[in-house]
Amino acid sequence: MKLKLKIWRQKNAEAKGGIVDYDVDNISEDMSFLEMLDVLNAQLIKNNEEPVAFDHDCREGICGSCSLFINGQAHGPDRLITTCQLHMRKFNDGDEIYIEPFRAKAFPVIKDLVVDRSSFDRIQQAGGYVSINTSGNTQDANAIPINKDDADDAFDAATCIGCGACVATCKNSSAMLFVGAKVSQYSLLPQGKVEAERRVLNMVNQMDLEGFGNCSNTGACEVECPKGISLDNIARMNREFIKANISSKNK
Ligand code: SF4
Ligand code: FES
Repeated sequence: MKLKLKIWRQKNAEAKGGIVDYDVDNISEDMSFLEMLDVLNAQLIKNNEEPVAFDHDCREGICGSCSLFINGQAHGPDRLITTCQLHMRKFNDGDEIYIEPFRAKAFPVIKDLVVDRSSFDRIQQAGGYVSINTSGNTQDANAIPINKDDADDAFDAATCIGCGACVATCKNSSAMLFVGAKVSQYSLLPQGKVEAERRVLNMVNQMDLEGFGNCSNTGACEVECPKGISLDNIARMNREFIKANISSKNK
């Protein structure tokens, strides 16, 4: 396969970036999208040119770092997969492919296709955890009976890998699907109820401080999410937030 790549190149966070054209040849349809970029980088290095910087780690859909906007779609044209799971068989010989970083005010570009998503880390640090007693008397988690539907919903919410596709896709750069998933993952389980009020207030507050936009119920985030995180999680977070707000005002 021969391809025409149009890639966002940007030297550093301060530099003005732009699209640069590259041709690649001998691309197998069995290659992953990232392997195709590896071929391009090998070619660039051979020609003493700067390789394209892009994020990746696990290359198996787990870590959430391989976040690219491909032909205007987060993680490319396929559904329910990350960029590293996208295969070149989804493209045709001679295709022109635009490759850009995830764009949002809260995800500034560091270099080329790499963005800084530490805003997600700070939201997690604001409440995305449970405090446990480590004195030696910790109760076995399996000893607490949990309704099957709640356990399933909590598990589904916990599959969010923090990739940021929801933000990049949303016209408002809203992080509500991500935060909704993180809040839901704990609010549905007895272990998460102890800190539930503080958690939702702090995480939503941090989300606002980071400069993410508001949700206007477009639903693009759910469509582009590689893990199929449901909009129900946003609704659950909103209910948790309202409850926590009222309760904190009455204290
Ligand atoms: S909700 Fe989906 S799109 Fe958003 S960060 Fe989590 S896995 Fe990625
Ligand atoms: S590299 Fe880890 S999800 Fe793609």
